[in-house]
Amino acid sequence: MKLLVTGGAGFIGSAVVRQAIAAGHEVVNLDALTYAACLDNVASVADAPGYAFEQADIRDRAALEAVFAKHQPDAVMHLAAESHVDRSIDGPGDFIETNITGTFNMLEAARKYWIEAGKPEAFRFHHISTDEVFGSLGATGQFTETTPYDPRSPYSASKAASDHLVRAWAETYGLPVVLTNCSNNYGPFHFPEKLVPVVILNALAGKPIPIYGDGSNVRDWLYVEDHADALLLVVQKGELGRCYNIGGENERSNLELVQTICAILDEKQPLESGSYADLITFVTDRPGHDARYAIDPTRIREELGWRPSVTVEQGLEKTVQWYLDNRPWWQALQDRAGVGTRLGTGTAAAQ
Ligand SMILES: NC(=O)c1ccc[n+]([C@@H]2O[C@H](COP(=O)([O-])OP(=O)(O)OC[C@H]3O[C@@H](n4cnc5c(N)ncnc54)[C@H](O)[C@@H]3O)[C@@H](O)[C@H]2O)c1
Repeated sequence: MKLLVTGGAGFIGSAVVRQAIAAGHEVVNLDALTYAACLDNVASVADAPGYAFEQADIRDRAALEAVFAKHQPDAVMHLAAESHVDRSIDGPGDFIETNITGTFNMLEAARKYWIEAGKPEAFRFHHISTDEVFGSLGATGQFTETTPYDPRSPYSASKAASDHLVRAWAETYGLPVVLTNCSNNYGPFHFPEKLVPVVILNALAGKPIPIYGDGSNVRDWLYVEDHADALLLVVQKGELGRCYNIGGENERSNLELVQTICAILDEKQPLESGSYADLITFVTDRPGHDARYAIDPTRIREELGWRPSVTVEQGLEKTVQWYLDNRPWWQALQDRAGVGTRLGTGTAAAQ
């Protein structure tokens, strides 16, 4: 299959690209190379015969149409997005332009290409989204594919809007789509501004490990390579027009997650005295911080036979080892704008 993957130089997109090439697919990686991108993430496949890279911005419709016309993909996996909730609080404009208008451009470029190709039945537009569109849960319950949307941050609102556009293009124009909404990912190549790498890198530097609020917020942690497996399954086998929730079956509070990472580091790289957990510092919470996300993965398990392959403890062990083994990768990214500083306190001026 020839896959057009957008956002393939980012965290999840690059896992999809690496796994798709390993599985024998051809891949066109379309990415604008924003602050969150790193072509080193796909260096291992850059010379593979079936791989091509196109630097293009999804806000630029003409550029997208040219990529479709040149590469003639069998399917699109649309991951390109502004993805950091804290940055969406400080500067929502980029999230509206990339996540909403950019998805609109992708849909229109895909629709034009699909019509000109004679509406091939096997074509798929796979939109990758988040469980954050469903809002925040209390102590019990799980998100299913029919949970009403209730986004609460500029990021999740922009992703919810993009999901609605994708469904509308399926209903109105018959564009063959599939959608997925996943929980929090972690794993190798995670950009150093997100929670798991922040914890590992601050611990290694002997810096305070920040936890928002009291650390009780619960997330359902999904190992990125498991997620990429699920995405490749959905784009090939997912039922037309259907959405699938993808979760890790691994709910942990942020405090539990951080304590687990510290315990793994205590084993792998012990301090002369004490524990990395001594660096844990509680800081002012994120405004509108959702309390709990949890995915009911019944549909993808029963219909497509997919389940996560690791527990969060196993996945974190691999992740911590990867960061210990790949210092040049993350050291090069630590100079990028905003990395290592507190973002998303809600005090930034309106745009
Ligand atoms: N990381 C998670 O835990 C998570 C959870 C649920 C859903 N998602 C979704 O998965 C997708 C990928 O997330 P990620 O964590 O890999 O994000 P990321 O920030 O690591 O990567 C995003 C990629 O998109 C590219 N990009 C951004 N704006 C672009 C534009 N205008 N044109 C072209 N390319 C652009 C960036 O250069 C980057 O390579 C996103 O759609 C995100 O909403 C992520």
